[in-house]
Amino acid sequence: MPNNIIHIAETSSTSTLLKEMRKNENVVEGVTVWADYQISGRGQRGNSWESEQGKNLLFSTILYPDFVLAEEQFLLSQVASLAIKYVLDAYTENITVKWPNDIYWKDRKICGMLIENVIMGNSITESVLGIGININQEFFVSDAPNPISLKQITQVEYNRELILTQITEKIFELYNQAKINRYTIINSYKQCLYRKNGLYSYKDEQGCVFNAYIEDVEPLGLLVLKTEEGIVRKFAFKEVKFL
Ligand code: BTN
Repeated sequence: MPNNIIHIAETSSTSTLLKEMRKNENVVEGVTVWADYQISGRGQRGNSWESEQGKNLLFSTILYPDFVLAEEQFLLSQVASLAIKYVLDAYTENITVKWPNDIYWKDRKICGMLIENVIMGNSITESVLGIGININQEFFVSDAPNPISLKQITQVEYNRELILTQITEKIFELYNQAKINRYTIINSYKQCLYRKNGLYSYKDEQGCVFNAYIEDVEPLGLLVLKTEEGIVRKFAFKEVKFL
């Protein structure tokens, strides 16, 4: 399945293109579209995604995860995050997963993802994993707070297609593992977390800054923090900011 990789020079967004293909034809599970350039690459929270032409990995993979209930969609974030972390581990140290699904090198973002699901009844019938990984870009110009590429870390130029193949294969391996036993994925994810140990500052939706330890990430995706005063607080995506 990971061999179903389609390369195009330019598109508005690989995720948009894949969803359009899906409307018009039968697209088998695992099809991946990657592009050298996106005219309007989409990021989280309505942001755009910066990527210099021909330098990085910009791809989208389609899954039909009908074994995943609507409320369990975080499992797909965990599968994709872990796959990327494991592959990047072979290229550099210090790769972690910043909850919920950013991939970090030290305190800087090397990869972001946008997962778009179609829900029917109680299940996820279709999921488009849209992933951007900074590979060979040397200068970032947008106001994204802390981007970094693999080349900036290691000073080496990489073959993007090779890394893409490794990641799509790993996504499939972990996706199939999740079908059999999702708890192996859930537990591995927790082992890979950015700021897994130690006291750090966070800001809640009311603007209150507090210091806390990461206590847990619940299977449905809530981040559980324990404040320095010993109070346990749980947050959904976008309800807390890492400072
Ligand atoms: C983020 O803001 O962290 C998510 C960025 C996701 C970018 C990828 S690049 C491939 C796919 N196509 C898009 O338009 N967005 C995603």
